[in-house]
Amino acid sequence: MQELVPVLTEEEIEKTIIRIAQSISLDYKDCDLILIGVLKGSFIFLSDLVRNLSIPVKIDFIRVSSYDNGTSSSGNIKFINDVGIEIKGKDILVIEDIIDTGFTLEYIINHLKKSEPASIKVCTLIDKLERRKTDIKIDYSGHITKEGFLVGYGLDYAENFRNLPGIFHLKL
Ligand code: IMP
Ligand code: MG
Repeated sequence: MQELVPVLTEEEIEKTIIRIAQSISLDYKDCDLILIGVLKGSFIFLSDLVRNLSIPVKIDFIRVSSYDNGTSSSGNIKFINDVGIEIKGKDILVIEDIIDTGFTLEYIINHLKKSEPASIKVCTLIDKLERRKTDIKIDYSGHITKEGFLVGYGLDYAENFRNLPGIFHLKL
């Protein structure tokens, strides 16, 4: 039996997003900022985040796949969709739903660096800090969690549960 245990409510997520959006708006005032959402998981977070920013931004998406329909990273990352707009000389903020081992993000950052942006920073809604296996820096983080596999608000388990408005711990 699958059980969904509440972790973050819609209201808690909203407060977090307002806080992060304020920091980003301050830090990138007068910059040429491009937000790059990592699909599919970040699509809801990114859409709520951008509507709370008070600065102009451009938005693009990349899509990578690192999980083979399971609950742990396979470490075998594949690029499905690359950035479509010119990022050379621009300030880049990568938007992730959740960062676990960090392998996906490390791969993405190394890839984006080849296009010589002016800067690359990272924003994630959820950080599974204890499970990190790479040396990556997270610049904006919503919540740090120790709990197991999370679903909802864009996060999936085998493509299910992305549409839930809150975030839940999935107990299998
Ligand atoms: P990493 O490469 O181990 O850091 O895994 C990062 C990617 O795996 C994230 O972008 C998510 O798409 C996915 N992921 C990691 N943990 C979870 C989780 O608890 N629930 C849903 N997806 C997850
Ligand atoms: Mg993801």
